Amino acid sequence: MLKRSMRAVFELADTGLQVAFGSRCNPFAQLGAIGWLCFWVVCATGLYLYVFFDTGVTAAYASVESLTHGQRWLGGILRSLHRYASDGMMLVAGVHLLRELAYDRLRGARAFAWITGALLLPLLYVCGITGYWMVWDRLGQYVAQTTTTWLDVLPLFAEPVARNFLDAGHLSGRFFTLMAYIHIAAPLILLLFMWVHIQRHSAARVNPARGLAIGVGAMLLGLSVAWPALSQGPADLSTVPAVLSLDWFYMAVYPIIDRDGGAVVWIGAAVVGAIFFALPWLPPLRRPAPAQVDLANCNGCGRCFADCPFGAIEMGRRTDGTAYEQQAIVDPDRCVSCGLCVGACPTATPFRRASTLVAGIELPELTVATLRERVVTAASSLQGPQRTLVIGCNHGAAVQPASPSTAVVAVPCVGMLPPSFLDFIVTRGFADRVALAGCRAGECHFRLGDRWTEERIAGSRDPALRARVPRNRIVLSWRGSGERAARRADLAIRSGEEVSASVPARRPPIARLGAGRVALQATAFALVALLIGAFSVWPRYRQIASDAGVVKLSFSHSAGRREPCAKLSPGELAKLPINMRVRTDCRSVELRLDGRLLYAGNERPAGLQHDGPSSLFRQFAVPAGPHLLDVRMRDSGRTDGYDAEATRAVQLSAGQSLVVDFDNATGSFAFR
Ligand code: HEM
Ligand code: SF4
Ligand code: SF4
Repeated sequence: MLKRSMRAVFELADTGLQVAFGSRCNPFAQLGAIGWLCFWVVCATGLYLYVFFDTGVTAAYASVESLTHGQRWLGGILRSLHRYASDGMMLVAGVHLLRELAYDRLRGARAFAWITGALLLPLLYVCGITGYWMVWDRLGQYVAQTTTTWLDVLPLFAEPVARNFLDAGHLSGRFFTLMAYIHIAAPLILLLFMWVHIQRHSAARVNPARGLAIGVGAMLLGLSVAWPALSQGPADLSTVPAVLSLDWFYMAVYPIIDRDGGAVVWIGAAVVGAIFFALPWLPPLRRPAPAQVDLANCNGCGRCFADCPFGAIEMGRRTDGTAYEQQAIVDPDRCVSCGLCVGACPTATPFRRASTLVAGIELPELTVATLRERVVTAASSLQGPQRTLVIGCNHGAAVQPASPSTAVVAVPCVGMLPPSFLDFIVTRGFADRVALAGCRAGECHFRLGDRWTEERIAGSRDPALRARVPRNRIVLSWRGSGERAARRADLAIRSGEEVSASVPARRPPIARLGAGRVALQATAFALVALLIGAFSVWPRYRQIASDAGVVKLSFSHSAGRREPCAKLSPGELAKLPINMRVRTDCRSVELRLDGRLLYAGNERPAGLQHDGPSSLFRQFAVPAGPHLLDVRMRDSGRTDGYDAEATRAVQLSAGQSLVVDFDNATGSFAFR
């Protein structure tokens, strides 16, 4: 139901895009290729930025500022291109994902592309987040602090990484060097995964059509000039940026981390990840039988190998002792049962007189002999002056025969029909014309069916349709499931029409760009540019109220001798606030604000033996104004009283970040 609704939305949008861009440049048919284009733009612009980028704590921001404003027409634009192409990649990946999901192109052999595609998302995320971090403006500061609090939820580090961003004193240039390394390494790993992602697709489309590539490039450039990417003021760890412009393509979950904590987002990511990984195997699960080679009929010509869209066929050494050198071998795990190999096989010809017609390669659920039988049966039922036999697949617009002069034979993909069948139907007089009714042009459900069919009919691909077949007896109709009216018009299933009037429905020529189409394309690109530009900074996010500051309680401290924690009784538990109902009384740290308990907890020592330092990082938004802070710590085995205590009257100003730390050298609390 959900998938059907998603498909309907995509069909509608696709139909609109088809009008604006034609079939060769329809962006929806080339989302993956646009993703690749964006990736190359990001790499090329990134290389330039890297030349001028300085990884030092103070130098990073200054170097990006000088690049942005000092070289407005080169560095500034390249920086903007770098950002917008990264956002574009995220956008494209999201729409591409939804589209594959809507059309259910993730099962069987396609699960490989689905799973590897899903793995691209976190990698893309790492690339984007480290990029923002490196700029070290106020957004970089926010990203660093929030990302590290998020990471600290995982038991990966001995000490909270967030402590590195407590205040200027804790900040080290090493972190920036590390970020620069990650920001370079992550795209390289991303590239590797992008390559793996398309390994099971033969002739994968990694370059968009030229016109489309120019359009996307011009859109990104126009956006960069009109709406340059800017920094948000230098980072200052003694303050908390109250309002920020987040890039929502990369930071949509950050406000959730702020509000509900990182654990919620990790759990959400784990659940979404698990669903992603399970989707290819969830019902309805039906996998048609894979293609099978019949060695007695295979001459090893390799045409099936050349035409299989999923690289499911290999040519191997002959095993049956015949004089042929090679034979086709099908990998059943990679086969999606499209039948394009059958359409390519020269032995799949209905003219063969053999009592049982068997081709070199067959789909067990629709053999060539059955196909011939169905064609002959359907054709013999045709009546009227222009008998039309439609060969159609189930993925495009449905064909409903409106009169006895039309009959339909269903195939998994139109490309399954060997051209010799067209010859057979027309020259033997089974029908006056044959209509091939497939998916929308350039969007074959099995990737290459429309392309191979057109090339075979045009004579540019083997097996080619023989010249003796009048081409005006063949109608090509490439229509998506939402284009039923156009399908009817293509097939002209009306009475009284002359056969000679049926002209193959060619793809709309893209070369003739009328003014109307140019205007439509410009509007579409402008809308996408607006979307990218807007969501890279808007809506603005308020991190804390304008009249609030933040108190950060953090330390890393090696405690004295530890003793087992005592269990709390149910009565004692009930007396505690709900978020503090831990079953032990080792609440060794307490922070109170004006007498009200802000935090109480027991920090476990790090390390497998629990003999490392205990660490803590917590932050609390607090109204600006005068406050009394009271912090206590018990770090020995004592059961009452505290080993360190401090009370401090503070005047917190709006946007201030006040750190309560423990100084291990003096054994006392410090307020900064
Ligand atoms: C920036 C990231 C991505 C890029 C550059 C990319 C690129 C591509 C390309 C070039 C293809 C081959 C298209 C063709 O020639 O037919 C493809 C196919 C595919 N992608 Fe992606 N992809 C990305 C992300 C994703 C994501 C996030 C998913 C889903 C989790 C995904 C799922 C798929 C699937 C299922 C196919 C196979 C479609 C089919 O079998 O017809 N991709 N991708
Ligand atoms: S049916 Fe043939 S062409 Fe299609 S995936 Fe299987 S082996 Fe490849
Ligand atoms: S196209 Fe047919 S004959 Fe040629 S290798 Fe494939 S199965 Fe064999």
